[in-house]
Order: sequence, then C-alpha cells, then structure tokens
Amino acid sequence: MKIAMIGFGGVGQSFAEILEEKHQELQQNYGLDVEIVAISDVMKGSIFHPGGLNIAELLECVKRTGSVESYPSSSQTIKGWNSIETIEKSQADVVIEVTYTDVKTGEPALTHCHRAFETGKSVITTNKGPVALAYQELTEKADHHGVFFGFEGTVMSGTPALRLPLETLAGNEIKEMRGILNGTTNYILTAMESGMTLKQALEKAQALGYAEADPTSDLEAYDVRYKAAILSNHVYGVHLDPDEIFCAGITGLSVEDIKEAEKAGEKWKLLARISQNNGNVKATVRPERIKEDDLLARVSGATNAIVYECDLSGPIMLTGAGAGLKETGFSLLIDLIHCHKQKQGTKIGGGSHS
Ligand code: HSE
Repeated sequence: MKIAMIGFGGVGQSFAEILEEKHQELQQNYGLDVEIVAISDVMKGSIFHPGGLNIAELLECVKRTGSVESYPSSSQTIKGWNSIETIEKSQADVVIEVTYTDVKTGEPALTHCHRAFETGKSVITTNKGPVALAYQELTEKADHHGVFFGFEGTVMSGTPALRLPLETLAGNEIKEMRGILNGTTNYILTAMESGMTLKQALEKAQALGYAEADPTSDLEAYDVRYKAAILSNHVYGVHLDPDEIFCAGITGLSVEDIKEAEKAGEKWKLLARISQNNGNVKATVRPERIKEDDLLARVSGATNAIVYECDLSGPIMLTGAGAGLKETGFSLLIDLIHCHKQKQGTKIGGGSHS
C-alpha cells in the first residue's frame, strides 16, 4: 500500500514512527506492506520517491533539520511538489491528510479530500473541519470513486468512538450519545476542583499539549460542537450544521461554582448530547451539573468518555485518550488497517465509508 502524507507535523511524524515500529507486525498479522512514497508539508517541504522513502532516515532528517530538503536524492526523487501535485502525481493508494486546517472552512483539508477522491485515492484524516462540514458530500464522493474515507481520529483520537457504535454495537438502537469529548476542558474542570483557577489550569493544559493552537475553540466548546456534528452524521446518518448546535463553553464557571456543586454531591462536566427520536436528531454542547455517581462524573483529567444509550445492551461507556500525538497517530493506523481489509474484501462491516 503506497501512502502520500499531506502534512508532516506532530501527528504525521507520530504515524510514520508507528509504521516504522510496527512494520513487521503489520505484514505478519494483516499482510499489510506500507510504503510512504511522498510527503508534502508547507513548512517542511515535499519529497516523492516512487519506490518508497526510508522512514527512519526521513524522520531523522526532519528532526535534525526541520525539513525534508536534505533527505538524500536519487535519480527518481522529486522535490518541491505542492500538496495538490503530490495528491495527483504520487500514484499513492492512500492519502493521509493531516495538514494544519481551519476548522471553520475545513480548508485546505477539504480540497485535498476532494482531489484525492477524484483521482481514485482513499483518504484518511484526523481533520474535523471537512468531516463535520461536508460529511455527506465526501462520503458520497468516496463511494462513487470506490475508495475508502477514514476519519476515526476526528472524535476521541485513537479511542474508537466512531467505529464502536456502528460495528461492535450494531443491532442496537442508540437513543443518545453523551460524552466528554474535549480533553483540555475536562482537565481544566478537574484542576478547578482542587482550587486552581481556570486561567492557571489552562496554562497547564497548554504546557501539556492538550489545547488547540487557539484555546478559544476548547474553552467555548466549538471543538466539541464539531465532534457532535460528526457523531450525528456518522452514527445517525443525519447532518447537523455545527453552527446550529447549541453550544456553551466553560468560561462562565468559577472555582466557587465547582465547590458549590461538590457540596451537593455533583460535578460540572462539559457534555455533548446527541439524541434521536423517530429520526429527529438533536444535539447540545454545554456544561452540566451531574451526580457524582454518574458514569461520566468519574472521568477526570484530559481523559475523554462517551456513553451510548442502547436499547438492547443498555448504556455502554467507552473511555480513553481524546488527544495526544501517539494516540492520534494510532487512529490513522486503525483506519489504514480497515482500508486494507476492505481492499482485500474482508471488511468487517460498518465503520468509515467505502
Ligand atoms: N484540543 C482538543 C482536546 C484536542 O483538548 O480534546 C483533540 O481534539
């Protein structure tokens, strides 16, 4: 399987490291032989080699020089393609789209997805924007071109919040999905329980690398609103415009509010709720005071969790990391393995579209 990587920041490099580490297991366990044939990154430059790049050498070169420019060239190496040229000319089977993208417009990731599908390539991305804004258009286009579209990492990174309800919980009617889908704000609310102010806790969350580049998206819950839109599209098959989802963040909460809830045996949590009733889907994102014995009240720090209210199996909770380089790199691998299985005709059903 030939891969072109569009974007080679922390997540992209982490994914490359995983491929390098797991090369043998992937071959032995899944018959999956992966080669990175191209990389294109606005900051680090671009490189293509039809026979595949040496991942260890590539990572070392980027870590040492901050660019792919000094990666050794041979007669077949091409440097300097932009992202679109890389998608069009690299003859990759799969485009891994991990660019720095504006979540409001979904660009440049949205254009990259379209161009990849139009040229017969599968796409695996962790970018929320294109999936939340153009789910239907993109999944239909992928179907039309007979390629795979994977985006497991857009909600709860490597914790499989999208694949689990459709595959493992298949057969249930899921009446509601209720979750803590943002690590930064849950980290802040937990830190405020021990008396830290929101500002102090945010600084710690930023230092630990959980927060978005602009933490407004975390604090005002726009990040969660996009994730709620993706869950609605993917699990319920109903498009909700992210802007139309009621959304309130945590900036109005003080340490006093948290202490007051504690005295009443409750906790403040930033919750997304997505529910369906007779085909009508509703979603809200806001801080809620929940009882201390609620399944979600015990989820602390940067951990994420989601409860699927199922008619047959009852409530099922999935919890794990919702951010992190390795975890998000892993989410790309889950999709890659499924893409490979699908190509081989051994798809295990549901999940990301074909
Ligand atoms: N800033 C996000 C979070 C990263 O804190 O959960 C993952 O989307």
